[in-house]
Amino acid sequence: MPDDHATPCLNCKKRNARWREDFPVEWENDEYITRREMVKFLALGSLTIAGANFILAGIPHVLQSGPLPKTKIGTASSVAAGSSQLFRYPTNDDPCILIRQTSGELVAYSQVCTHLSCAVIHDQKENTLFCPCHHGYFTVAEGRPYAGPPTRPLPRIRLEQEGDEIFAVGVEV
Ligand code: FES
Repeated sequence: MPDDHATPCLNCKKRNARWREDFPVEWENDEYITRREMVKFLALGSLTIAGANFILAGIPHVLQSGPLPKTKIGTASSVAAGSSQLFRYPTNDDPCILIRQTSGELVAYSQVCTHLSCAVIHDQKENTLFCPCHHGYFTVAEGRPYAGPPTRPLPRIRLEQEGDEIFAVGVEV
């Protein structure tokens, strides 16, 4: 029906409504634009998050790209067979554990569980590294997970011995 009839009908009122001046996009187009904008937003959002993760994941490697310090962590004579000792390496924020196996060999690992970062403890009786948070278990000989939720081994601390002194010289991830 044309708009020029004497009394505007409901269709004319709708077509000429004042809100249309502020929102001139037709409903069908509005939906189309919204979907396209949403896809663009999701794509850009995903790219931004992926980029941020990439950068954050790379920062520790960049910061540790140089050789790690050689740090004295204790004396061999103070760690009896089957016992352990805590130390921090490479920074004061990195708790680690030094263990003398019953064979006499010294091994050291990051104390941070590879599941959700609780501190692993040395269970001397069971000869295992145990994470009490979710009952994760790692072998003492290799730091390999063998029970519970952890799937990645504990980072191993490389050791050097000079006389009775033990030094941490690097981290194997
Ligand atoms: S944090 Fe160690 S098992 Fe979950």
